[in-house]
Amino acid sequence: MIYSRITGTGGYLPDNVLTNADLEKMVETSDQWIVERTGIRQRHIADDDQTTCDLAYEAAIRAIDAAGIATRDIDLIVVATTTPNRIFPSTACLLQERLDIHGCAAFDIQAVCTGFVYALSVVDKFIRTGSARCVLVVGAETLSRIIDWNDRSTCVLFGDGAGAMVVQASEEPGILSTHLHADGQYKELLTVSGGVSEHAERLKSGEAKVLMKGNEVFKTAVKTLGQIVDETLEANRLEKSDVDWLVPHQANIRIISATAKKLKMSMERVVTTVEHHGNTSAASIPLAFDVAVRDGRIQRGETILMEAFGGGFTWGSVLLKY
Ligand code: ACO
Repeated sequence: MIYSRITGTGGYLPDNVLTNADLEKMVETSDQWIVERTGIRQRHIADDDQTTCDLAYEAAIRAIDAAGIATRDIDLIVVATTTPNRIFPSTACLLQERLDIHGCAAFDIQAVCTGFVYALSVVDKFIRTGSARCVLVVGAETLSRIIDWNDRSTCVLFGDGAGAMVVQASEEPGILSTHLHADGQYKELLTVSGGVSEHAERLKSGEAKVLMKGNEVFKTAVKTLGQIVDETLEANRLEKSDVDWLVPHQANIRIISATAKKLKMSMERVVTTVEHHGNTSAASIPLAFDVAVRDGRIQRGETILMEAFGGGFTWGSVLLKY
């Protein structure tokens, strides 16, 4: 049996930090409101000349180094992003060129905040079917570029960053199962107001920005993430107590706490980094995972549950043995 095993992780956050105190000077908000409602204290913002591919590259080289592989070993590159450098080529192709790799398959996945979970699920299928053996999978975002910095209901939530993993074929487990869902009927609750072929004039004028009905997103996220926890455990015939670590999408500490409660899991077993970088969309799970691997919390052989929810709506989970 072939499993997909994480052999290296890496993360990167841009140097520029935007604190809640900085935001107090930009919109009518307060550190207290942001911390109480979201748990976020600061976020990192890419420089004007820093692209999603730049962030992805920094995270990727750390993951490649941690895995101890050579770039020529990589036979597939998948980048989860909603904020690609260009409409095309894909950010995965741009990253491939930056890494001086040539010829292997490379593509982007767009599932907003669930992007990394979607990417891991696809990568797992490539590996299990023998189509790839050594995959670089990255979640990278420059969300700051599509935020309306005058809209206090969204601008306090998001940040830029990238997280990466090297995932390799192994006889040892491995990703145990992945579960993906989407429901496009919720498209208006969390969206960007302009695109390439719809409201293109807003893209041209720079008015294409994130729009969100936060309260409704919040309620659906909590409900849906509770369901995906049950679905994942049932599929693997596991009990809640069998999960060693929850590594959730980092959107809001209250959403994360609700899922931990559903799992009857103490917050000490939940990896949270949202305080330090806000919602970095597809980058948030690999960023959090990398932090907990590097500080020694997540150990080999432990059982990890990743879950995410985002625009679409999309949602999903990955259960794995590290
Ligand atoms: N500072 C101060 N006041 C604010 C701010 C702000 N930054 N933003 C909104 N408010 C005000 C509102 O105007 C409202 O005022 P009113 O009562 O006078 O009308 C009040 O605060 C309450 O607003 P709500 O939207 O009801 O506040 P809520 O408790 O729902 O918190 C939040 C808002 C934090 C956005 C929450 O709904 C949330 O986190 N939703 C999930 C959104 C999310 O995470 N999206 C990311 C993508 S999906 C995902 O990743 C899960």
